[in-house]
Amino acid sequence: MRLRPEIAALPPYRQGRPAPADGFKLSSNENPFEPLAGVAAAVAAASDFNRYPDATAADLREVLAERHGVSADEVHVGAGSVSILAQLVLATSGPGDEVVYAWRSFEAYPGLVTVSGATSVRVPNRDDHSHDLDAMADAVTDRTRLIIVCSPNNPTGTIVTADDFETFLSRVPSDVLVVLDEAYGEFVTDADAVRGLPLRHPNVVVLRTFSKAYGLAGLRIGYAVGPLAVLDAARATAIPLSVTAPAVAGALASLEAEPELLARVTDIAARRDALFEALVAQGWAVPRPQGNFVWLPTGEATAAVAERLFDAGIVARAFPPEGIRISIGEAESVDELLRILGDIVQNPQEPASK
Ligand SMILES: Cc1ncc(COP(=O)(O)O)c(C=O)c1O
Repeated sequence: MRLRPEIAALPPYRQGRPAPADGFKLSSNENPFEPLAGVAAAVAAASDFNRYPDATAADLREVLAERHGVSADEVHVGAGSVSILAQLVLATSGPGDEVVYAWRSFEAYPGLVTVSGATSVRVPNRDDHSHDLDAMADAVTDRTRLIIVCSPNNPTGTIVTADDFETFLSRVPSDVLVVLDEAYGEFVTDADAVRGLPLRHPNVVVLRTFSKAYGLAGLRIGYAVGPLAVLDAARATAIPLSVTAPAVAGALASLEAEPELLARVTDIAARRDALFEALVAQGWAVPRPQGNFVWLPTGEATAAVAERLFDAGIVARAFPPEGIRISIGEAESVDELLRILGDIVQNPQEPASK
């Protein structure tokens, strides 16, 4: 079969290993809380699935538009924010074009760019694991069509500050699209962090998701807020009818139950901060986390440390030879994690004890 060689060489998405029976799955940045009963009921009530869903998720767009002070057409809903990102890459970039993003960042970015036929330009993070926005602006050429900024950055957890983002935008040509990926925006507690919404710039699209803070990862629903012409171009590349009615019902019910869901986010952020402090006290050089995960820069020891965590019942996401991303999960998982990581710091060569 004559496949596109760059596609044939692209590894298919591989999901993290499932957790062992009495262990913890901390590898996908999921929300550890079970769905709220009211949200689950709203999803179950969307049962006329012999019918296609509303292709534009109009009800949800109306609610989101109202919250963010934009028109409903300046909101676009997709089957997960990653699918909207795929649409934006296709809408802006093709063979010969360049897409700039920080590296390491979200592992989906390289594949999306390759599929579009465009070229990835990866700009290494700074030593503190945060985006090097100056270098990213320097990397812009007349072939650049899209720049992705991820704050908080997956997997390093670092934020971009509002001031640095403004300075960066002032250096980016106004016809180059900047996507601000805020998949973890609700977990941010740093007052200096950029906040994409309300939207202020004509060449910026902000991506948000219901997968993380709102706990709807399995329903696949996210959204973008941005300029009408850009979102229309994204809509033109979308696979029609991918957003299901149960997903829309779940998102609407989650927005209604927001105070309860955001209280959970506060809990997760507090758990994260406590874990961070404890890891630093153990001697780990962890960058200050602002998502629902922490980054352990384990370098060459990455595979070995991840294996010891796994043997002790904790599945984390290893990125050898750089580091390990560990999601903030159930409260008990944090204690267990600290026990094992403390053991690893003190006995770097020993197998983990369960
Ligand atoms: C930075 C970032 N962006 C986007 C996504 C995609 O989220 P979803 O497609 O579930 O909305 C993720 C998921 O892990 C992510 O880490």
